[in-house]
Formats: sequence, C-alpha cells, structure tokens
Amino acid sequence: MADIDFSGRSVLVVGGSSGIGNGIARSFLQRGATVHVWGTRPSAADYASEPGSDLAGLHYACVDASDAAAVAAAGHELEQLDVLVLCQGTVIYRRGEFEMAGFEKVVSVNLNSMMACALRFQPQLARAKGSLILISSTAAYRTTLGNPAYNASKAALLGLTRSLAHAWIGDGIRVNGVAPGLVDTKLTKVTMDNPDRREWAMSMIPAKRVGTPEDIAGAVLFLASPLAGYVIGQTIVVDGGAAL
Ligand SMILES: NC(=O)c1ccc[n+]([C@@H]2O[C@H](COP(=O)([O-])OP(=O)(O)OC[C@H]3O[C@@H](n4cnc5c(N)ncnc54)[C@H](OP(=O)(O)O)[C@@H]3O)[C@@H](O)[C@H]2O)c1
Repeated sequence: MADIDFSGRSVLVVGGSSGIGNGIARSFLQRGATVHVWGTRPSAADYASEPGSDLAGLHYACVDASDAAAVAAAGHELEQLDVLVLCQGTVIYRRGEFEMAGFEKVVSVNLNSMMACALRFQPQLARAKGSLILISSTAAYRTTLGNPAYNASKAALLGLTRSLAHAWIGDGIRVNGVAPGLVDTKLTKVTMDNPDRREWAMSMIPAKRVGTPEDIAGAVLFLASPLAGYVIGQTIVVDGGAAL
C-alpha cells in the first residue's frame, strides 16, 4: 500500500525533466497521480540518454519558464491541477553572476519564473483547493561565495512562499516550500566531480551522505498531502543536518 495516495490527482512539476524535480515527479507517479513535467529541451526523447532524467510515464512539455508570455500561453491541458511544484533552477559559475546579464538570467529562472508559473495556475489550484510548493535551497540561509544571484534568488523564495501563502490561503491554496541541501544532480556537478570540493561539502553533513531526489520528494509529498493541512507558508529544510 502506498504511504500517501495521490490517485486521481493531477500534478505539474516545473523542472521535472531532471534531477530533484524528476525524483519528485516520479514519487507522485508511484503514488497514483497523473504527472506533467516541464523542461527546456524540445521533446522527451531529448532526455533519453541523460542520467537523472527518467520521463517514462510522465507527460512532458517544453516551456521556458523564464518567459512569462510562454508560461501564460502554456498548460491548457491542465484544467484540473491539484499540486504545482516549482523546481526549476539554474546557476552560473566562473563569476558569471557578477555580470548583470548573468545575474538577471539566474534571477529570471530562479525567482521571476516562479511567480509567472504560480500566477498561471492560481485559478486551477483555487478550484482544486490545491497545493503549491516552491523549491528554494539551503543557500537561502547562508552566503554562496561565487553565486550572488543564486543566493539572492533562493533567499527571495522564502519571502515569496510566505507572501503567496498568506495571499492565497483564503482561496484554499496551501503554499509552502522545501529548501534542499546538497543533492547530486547536473546543477551540482562542479562540486560533485571535484574530489576536494566534494569532501569539503560532505564534511559539513552530519548524515554523512549527500541527499537524493527521493529525500527531497519525501518532504514535498508530505506538504502536498492532507497530513500537512495546517502547514502554511513554511519552507522545510531537508539537508541531512548540514544547517546544524
Ligand atoms: N542539487 C542541489 O544540491 C540543490 C540544492 C538546493 C536546491 N536545489 C534546487 O533544486 C532545483 C532542481 O535542481 P537540480 O539540482 O535538480 O538541477 P537540474 O538537474 O539541473 O534540474 C533543474 C531543472 O530546472 C529546469 N529548468 C532550468 N531552467 C529552466 C527554464 N528556463 N524553464 C523551465 N525549466 C527550466 C531544468 O530543465 P532541463 O532538464 O531542460 O535542463 C531541470 O528540469 C533547483 O531549483 C535548484 O536550485 C538543488
């Protein structure tokens, strides 16, 4: 028997084509939901050989979430939407976020696109008395030395989560967030593929392992479920104790 059952529910994971979002999408699928995912490549086949991208059984669409007009025009197949998970994210290394073009690109994907997607599906979520979950990062709570845009956008998501939660609970929409610690995905290759960086990162994690997409999915499933019916506007840290 499934621990939490989402049969008959419709879920969209923006950024569900890869990594953490893909793990979240598959966790909803395993529990009976119809699951839609958005990513940036033209078709699902373009992820066929990509580690961390298993699109079997998921309904894929290519939508650039940082393009507000594209978001507004997308998703017409989603008349019923019970759960919206916003997991899209990007980062630029080699000091690219210290240039305005790089800074704006990261803020556009990590922050502005979250608002565009939330607004796009607010009517559907209100009809369903549904749940909206924003994926932030433990980077929201500390500095990320080379990545000011990543840092600022993830910190801003804590505020956006609180504001939307307060604004929309009257419509029956519960808004919450999850802040993952380190998870091995294409976003964190710079850390995971460098033995020194990896060892340093691991030394900060009391659980003595990096997180998995399924670890993060566990908190998302909880927040989307009736078990969290009275949890409003919170961001849950899921980091193996690293924040301690
Ligand atoms: N990995 C970690 O340690 C970690 C820690 C804390 C927070 N996070 C957050 O978790 C989320 C998922 O990251 P991840 O680690 O799983 O990395 P990932 O594997 O690179 O996944 C990022 C996802 O965002 C999508 N995306 C990027 N730009 C987009 C755009 N403009 N429009 C639509 N989708 C877009 C990607 O699509 P494509 O597949 O087409 O590229 C992909 O599905 C991000 O918000 C990230 O900041 C990650």
